[in-house]
Amino acid sequence: MCGIVGYTGSKEASEILIGGLKKLEYRGYDSAGIALQKNGQVVIAKAAGSVADLEKSLDDRFKAVKAGIGHTRWATHGRPTDQNAHPHSSHSGEIVVVHNGIIENNRLLRKWLIEEKGYSFRSETDTEVLAHLIEEYYDGDLLEAVRKSVSTVEGSYALVAVTCREPDRLVCARKDSPLIIGFGEGENFIASDIPALLNHTRNTCILEDGEFASITAEKVEVFNLEGCPVEKEIFKVNWDIAAAEKGGYDHFMLKEIMEQPVAVRETMRQRIDAAKGRVVPTEFEISPDELARLEKIYIVACGTAYHAGLIGKAVIEKLAGIPVEVEVASEFRYREPLLGENQLAIVISQSGETADTLAGLRLARSKGVKVLAITNVVGSTVSREADQVLFTWAGPEIAVASTKAYLTQLIAVYLIAIYLGEARKTLKPEKAAELVKGLLALPSQLERILSEESIAKLRSYCDHLATWERAFFLGRNLDFPVAMEGALKLKEISYIHAEACAAGELKHGPLALIVEGLPVIALATQKAVLDKTLSNIHEVNARGGAVFAITQEGFDDVARQVESVFYLPPVNDILAPVLAVVPTQLIAYYAALARGSSVDKPRNLAKSVTVE
Ligand code: M6R
Repeated sequence: MCGIVGYTGSKEASEILIGGLKKLEYRGYDSAGIALQKNGQVVIAKAAGSVADLEKSLDDRFKAVKAGIGHTRWATHGRPTDQNAHPHSSHSGEIVVVHNGIIENNRLLRKWLIEEKGYSFRSETDTEVLAHLIEEYYDGDLLEAVRKSVSTVEGSYALVAVTCREPDRLVCARKDSPLIIGFGEGENFIASDIPALLNHTRNTCILEDGEFASITAEKVEVFNLEGCPVEKEIFKVNWDIAAAEKGGYDHFMLKEIMEQPVAVRETMRQRIDAAKGRVVPTEFEISPDELARLEKIYIVACGTAYHAGLIGKAVIEKLAGIPVEVEVASEFRYREPLLGENQLAIVISQSGETADTLAGLRLARSKGVKVLAITNVVGSTVSREADQVLFTWAGPEIAVASTKAYLTQLIAVYLIAIYLGEARKTLKPEKAAELVKGLLALPSQLERILSEESIAKLRSYCDHLATWERAFFLGRNLDFPVAMEGALKLKEISYIHAEACAAGELKHGPLALIVEGLPVIALATQKAVLDKTLSNIHEVNARGGAVFAITQEGFDDVARQVESVFYLPPVNDILAPVLAVVPTQLIAYYAALARGSSVDKPRNLAKSVTVE
């Protein structure tokens, strides 16, 4: 989720690259760098910090140069340091690359390059592998060397390479990470996102997976994996810069909702052995001894991350048989919890900077409890202070309302639960394999849920909801935390007062509030309690409540009771929360839209709550 820019033409390359990077800073902003082709050399400037800092550091060596590449980084592999900033150069310094994505077989390739080929590495990044590989295969044609290199890598990449041996030529390749070529007069561009191009050209083409391009000032040539030329259609961009930053969506929140299939896929990458049907813990590990002694887990988090923790409790207890307590961090830190030996604390925080969560982490560590952090930000305080970290790879989340980060937090807790269950032998290998298969199916199921046709089904209900000042969310079992997350999202951005109610609790009080037309969103995805949930829906119906049910395809009894039904693709009940929360995010979004609220920046709220 970083930003890439490339330029070749007759203008001052550094200015174009810096300008493009500034337009992409919303994609990643922990470090930045550029590399320019000058007098048979490639000169590089890169550092942790902002693009503005980078710009200030550029001296005369970076002037009067006509081609180069740039990058703004959102750290995944390796901390946000000067060394880890892109561009990365090969052993000899002759090949330089910028890259977005994840090279999954990075470790293997790194080992091979060091042990068999004598390369040495300067950074912790997976990208550096690409620079050395391209050098290894370089034989006078950069395009061919890039093609050979990417055929040995597994994972995702949008990469642009340059070499001092082929001045003014950029070579790029793409798989599972966007790259767009911009066409100018006597100049051409490459970028990971359209905003970087719009000050220069609106004529673009999108590189598809498996395609490569060779770009000079005069010529753009695109090839497929087999090396055959590909005719590309030119696409004229009509968006303004603000719309382009949001990928053409009206709000970052909607863009981030739409990015969820990719975010989920990225977070599972390298952590699942699909062939063996197993979770492979690359970052977190618990020794057999610790595992045998583990008596209790605390999960500590705030807001949406706390809701991910509630799902974590249910799945860890079910799959690994370890008692779990989930606590809102602001309560945990002041209530003297019984922390002690044989415990593990898991803290969850998108930003990794939430003051209460951080205090919870410090409290646990001060009592000798090992802390595993789930966070989205490499280099954040939580990631630095925890004993172990499982990063979610959702990419930067800009809207205050958390969506894609939440889904990746869920993936993280499933990975932990399956890993613990397998290690403690409370989860049979066949069952683990079934869950792993279910996890791998989630991205395409999410794509289905996010189709236009599917969204159209909830728009008219949102118009009704938007006219009310209060609403209920109901659910049992794993549907209850989803209801809590749905209610939080709705109140946060639409300002409708929403309450989540464990469906079985209705009769104990909240039922008194149900009146004709009151919006009630009922989650009914859990087979084991479906009849019970249906009878609660019936109670609401009987009092005139306007029920919108979210259920699985095949649960036909729901449609017999409710007019508005949103069907999720059939899914293992344990994994259903990942899918079920998405229509609740969309409901919140469209209700807020109908009420004209400030979707991305709701009143009184901040993205990261770094003070108490
Ligand atoms: O960065 P964190 O995950 O620690 O943030 C925790 C909460 O502040 C956050 O989830 C908040 O509840 C969101 N705005 C909800 O959408």
